[in-house]
Amino acid sequence: MTKNFPALYSASEIQRRVAELGAEVTNDFGSEGVVVVCVLKGAAIFSADLVRAIRCPVELDFIRANSYVGTQSSGTVQITSDITTDVAGKQVLVVEDIIDTGRTSDVILRHLSQKKPKRLELAALLDKPAAHEVPVNLRYKGFQIANEFVIGYGLDLDGKYRELPYIAQLNTQS
Ligand code: IMP
Ligand code: MG
Repeated sequence: MTKNFPALYSASEIQRRVAELGAEVTNDFGSEGVVVVCVLKGAAIFSADLVRAIRCPVELDFIRANSYVGTQSSGTVQITSDITTDVAGKQVLVVEDIIDTGRTSDVILRHLSQKKPKRLELAALLDKPAAHEVPVNLRYKGFQIANEFVIGYGLDLDGKYRELPYIAQLNTQS
């Protein structure tokens, strides 16, 4: 039952970076506050820590998207569960675990922009710029990583390893 992987980012490195991001968000959104939209399931852990690092008023909501890769090379993304907060005229921050192709956040941002928020920004703990397939406007980025598969701190492999307090690169060679 060993779950020890070499950490790419340790729990304390992550907590330090989350505190910095929380301070930035606090500064940018101010006393008007922000609706944090957590993209399930991967961003659950990051969002839980991030909202506690934000010092302005926060509302928390959740959205869920599934990507289906068909016979075509490009995947399509469907929103399977929507937010329930009325975000019209409000400041909204979408929180993702990782930006890979960028397709999930692209679909979510387009969807939420139809609800007429006053401001709509994107945060992600991790970014894989080499994997982007669509333009990504990432306002708050935890760490930039190479095009490798990572697990932990919310990120899964087939539903596993989300509970690891650190982020590890999965060695697919061994
Ligand atoms: P997208 O390709 O940017 O749309 O990313 C879709 C989703 O794939 C992300 O929200 C993650 O849930 C998942 N994903 C992408 N890269 C990784 C990874 O390295 N580890 C775990 N999940 C990943
Ligand atoms: Mg996932």
